[in-house]
Amino acid sequence: MANVPKILMNNGLFMPGFGLGTFESFGLAGRATKHAIDVGYRHFDTARLYANEVEVGQAIQEKIKEGVVKREEIFIVTKLWNTDHEPEKVEKAARQSCEKLGLGYIDLYLMHYPVAFKERTPFEDWPLNPDGTFEHVDVDYIDTWKAMEKLVDLGIVKSIGISNFNSQQIDRLLANCRIKPVNNQIEASPQINQKKLIKFCQERDIIVTAYCPLGRPIPAEKKPSFLYDDKLTAIAKKYNKTVPQVVFRYLIDIGSVPIPKSVTPKRIEENIDVFDFKLSTDEIKYIDTFNTGERVIHFTESRHDKHFPFNIEF
Ligand SMILES: NC(=O)c1ccc[n+]([C@@H]2O[C@H](COP(=O)([O-])OP(=O)(O)OC[C@H]3O[C@@H](n4cnc5c(N)ncnc54)[C@H](OP(=O)(O)O)[C@@H]3O)[C@@H](O)[C@H]2O)c1
Repeated sequence: MANVPKILMNNGLFMPGFGLGTFESFGLAGRATKHAIDVGYRHFDTARLYANEVEVGQAIQEKIKEGVVKREEIFIVTKLWNTDHEPEKVEKAARQSCEKLGLGYIDLYLMHYPVAFKERTPFEDWPLNPDGTFEHVDVDYIDTWKAMEKLVDLGIVKSIGISNFNSQQIDRLLANCRIKPVNNQIEASPQINQKKLIKFCQERDIIVTAYCPLGRPIPAEKKPSFLYDDKLTAIAKKYNKTVPQVVFRYLIDIGSVPIPKSVTPKRIEENIDVFDFKLSTDEIKYIDTFNTGERVIHFTESRHDKHFPFNIEF
C-alpha cells in the first residue's frame, strides 16, 4: 500500500498528502471511494456542489463498519457553495453537509470560491444572467470566513480553508481573521504549475491542494499536451511509472497535494502509487516548460465581480 505522508497543518492537525477527487462522479463516487480506501487513500475531496456527499459518506461509513479504517484515519473535505456566503447561512450549510456525510464532523471545510452568488432557488447552483455572467451578491468573503470560524468553535468542522483565492485575497483574509486558513485548494498541473502561489502560501503556512492535476484530460483531442509528450513518456519509463504518475510526483515535489479524480479502479491504484520515486532537478525543470498558465477552470462568468480571483498574476 502507498506510503502517503501526512502533512502538518498550521493548527496542529494533519492532512494526508494525496487524495481522491470526486467531481462529476455522481453514482460512481461511492464505489470509487471504497476502492480507494482499500488501496490506501485516506483523503477525500467532495463539495456541496458535487451532489455526492451522501454517496461518499456512506462508502466511508461502510469501510469503517467493515473495520478497514477508523474514522480518525479519514480526512474528509467538503465545501461551502457560493450561494451560501451570507454569514447567517453558513452554519446551516455546514450542518447539512455534515449530516449528508454522516461522519460526525468535517475534517476540512473550504470556502469554494471568494465570490458570492445570489440564491434564486435552492436548486440553482449557477445563477446565470441573460448576458452569460453570474448573478452575484455583495457579501465580503471576510464576513463569510468569520461565520466559518464559528464552525470550528462548534466542533462541526476540525479545520477551515479556502479555494480559488489569489495572493491578495489571502493576505487580506490573514489580516482580518481569528483562525488562519490551513489550506488553499487551487488548480495546479504542469500547464499551470502555480509555483508562485504555492511559495506564497508556504511562506504563510498554508498547504496548497492541487485540483485538476491532470488538466482534466480529453483523450480524443490528445489534451493536455503534457500527457502525450515523448520526453515525459521517456521519464516515466525510466522510473517504471506512467506519465500521470510523473505528473503527480512533480506536483508533490513542487509543494502541493494532488487530488486526482478517477472512478476507474486501475487508475485509482495507479495514481496514488507515487511515493517510491523522486524526480531529478532537470526533470522538474523540463516539466516546468509546460507552464503556460492556461486554466481548465476559467470562471469568467464572474469576471466582473469585485472578488473575482483570476485577474492578477497569482
Ligand atoms: N476547488 C475547486 O474549485 C475544484 C475545481 C475542480 C476540481 N476540484 C476537485 O479536484 C478534483 C480533481 O480535478 P478534476 O476531476 O477536475 O480533474 P483531473 O483530476 O485532472 O481529471 C480527472 C479525469 O482524469 C481521468 N484520469 C484520472 N486518472 C487517470 C490516469 N491515471 N490516466 C488517465 N486518465 C486519468 C479521469 O477519468 P476516470 O474517472 O474515467 O478514470 C477523469 O476523466 C475534482 O474531482 C474535485 O474533487 C476542485
